[in-house]
Amino acid sequence: MSLSISLIVNGAPRRVDLDDPRVTLLDLLRERLHLTGTKKGCDRGQCGACTVLVDGRRINSCLALAASCDGADILTIEGVARGEVPHPVQAAFIEHDAFQCGYCTPGQIMSAIGLIQEAQTGDDPERIREAMSGNLCRCGAYAGITAAVQDAQR
Ligand code: FES
Repeated sequence: MSLSISLIVNGAPRRVDLDDPRVTLLDLLRERLHLTGTKKGCDRGQCGACTVLVDGRRINSCLALAASCDGADILTIEGVARGEVPHPVQAAFIEHDAFQCGYCTPGQIMSAIGLIQEAQTGDDPERIREAMSGNLCRCGAYAGITAAVQDAQR
């Protein structure tokens, strides 16, 4: 049985037929919409590499069924820059060397954008680290990530 859903993805309306209602938002983004900036790390909600914003809220897209996102507004890493101008969070990550291998970086940046929109932490590094704790970095670039999030909020 095929299911048709409508989404806004990075500002553009998309209609997608799902052959399998169990497909995750992560797989829909990567495999159907070819938005491969969103990464698959653990595929079980533990690493945060797949973080996107759904209606402005941070989620692990590997844990969300695409069908449950019918009508939602999705923002992925591909949608945050304005042409050649990086998003302020992207610019701050570059400024502070907030990555090493870069695999977790799209998820880190989407989480940071959501965190800043939530406006819960201010620039308190402890609160930023706590609020970003769902995003793991195997290279251990946490000091740079925290500094970038602090900087991007100013
Ligand atoms: Fe979704 Fe790891 S791939 S949390």
